Amino acid sequence: MKCHELRLTGSGGANRVMEAELKRLVMRSPFHVRVPNPRREGDATLLYPFDPQIAWVAACHHRTSSRVSWDLASSPATRLEPLFADLVPALRDDDRLPSSPQVRFSVEVGSAHDFEASPLQLRGVVKNAIVEALASRGVAAAIEAAEPDVVFVARRAGTPDARRTVVGIDLGLGARHKRGTRVSGGPAPLRETLAAQLVMLSRWDARSEVLVDPMAGGATIPIEAAGLAAGAAVRQPGALPFRHLPAFAGLPIDAPDLFPGTTAHILSLDIDEALIGSMVGNLRAAGLTGPAYDGAIVIGQKDVRTLTPDYVTRMLPAARGMATGVFCVNPPYGVRLGGDTANDRLLDLYEGMGRAMARFTGWRAVCFVANPRFEEAFGHVPALKKPATNADLPGAFLGYQF
Ligand SMILES: C[S@@+](CC[C@H](N)C(=O)[O-])C[C@H]1O[C@@H](n2cnc3c(N)ncnc32)[C@H](O)[C@@H]1O
Repeated sequence: MKCHELRLTGSGGANRVMEAELKRLVMRSPFHVRVPNPRREGDATLLYPFDPQIAWVAACHHRTSSRVSWDLASSPATRLEPLFADLVPALRDDDRLPSSPQVRFSVEVGSAHDFEASPLQLRGVVKNAIVEALASRGVAAAIEAAEPDVVFVARRAGTPDARRTVVGIDLGLGARHKRGTRVSGGPAPLRETLAAQLVMLSRWDARSEVLVDPMAGGATIPIEAAGLAAGAAVRQPGALPFRHLPAFAGLPIDAPDLFPGTTAHILSLDIDEALIGSMVGNLRAAGLTGPAYDGAIVIGQKDVRTLTPDYVTRMLPAARGMATGVFCVNPPYGVRLGGDTANDRLLDLYEGMGRAMARFTGWRAVCFVANPRFEEAFGHVPALKKPATNADLPGAFLGYQF
């Protein structure tokens, strides 16, 4: 069966944030197109009727999704032979496929636990079906793992009562949390896609509010925040498979910022002085240092428990006049850093954070924390609570209003 949908996949529970982000981006894109309501598969996948302009914006700019792909064909088959038999005719007359005389491609396999063969076998059959379908269209297709022109994706998808094997094209250059700019990880880095979700959940308005990450580690959250404020691309069109796909002919070859001229005011702090170098390196690699950011994106060494509004104003003089702000923070959990989640020092730290943030009347905070003791120790009632997972550690986004 032919499909024609743009698929955005995120981490568990990311649907609403992914949807809101795509709308915001498309509204500011060079295209005059409205984003239709998506179909949802579970709580981490959105499916939009395929539109190349919306797909272009998603692939270049979308920060909260983990993968962006274009579904081309699907089959109910869970075994190799029937899948091959379904795919070849579905793809043979498909003029959405690359049409140049030669194509180098690879196939990745996504989640396929309910397919009745190994991921390697599934990949092999999808490869063979693509080679045969392209050959019948006069295209010589060669497998190229290192630098393919196009990456196809095969996965099991759908709702529990209507599972299918779906084949599509990866538009977003693989796992999107790999932004390609982090030069130094810090002790327990947050995934970039989760950091972007956290900032979206804080409803930060970069034009009127400052953003403070008081436990910034390698500055993942500040970097994502600056990217969201500017609408900066995470992928440039030239790195994507667009030039091999007829649907994208004529679309822009550059992806400039969608919110140019927005000056975000961001304070990136950590108690550990040794991390200052990582923050500077990561900000520089992300293009967020230099005269344009002087006084706007500021790094400092500070214990979160001693934070005061005066300190923030002193560190961010360029933000004078901005009445409130948001804390976006990913406190230590005590798990990955080798400790114990009920450790007294950690609980004291959470309590001290809660006391410090209460000094910021009118501010909001969103935390991502994978420690069930945080909520109680922090001492405030969350207005938002949303389960999520970082690097296999189950945790939650917690949102507060002070
Ligand atoms: C989970 S890590 C944050 C990782 C960060 N989000 C990133 O992606 O790199 C927690 C950070 O809290 C910092 N930290 C611990 N105690 C602190 C305190 N009292 N004040 C400020 N920062 C603290 C640690 O040094 C560590 O960098």
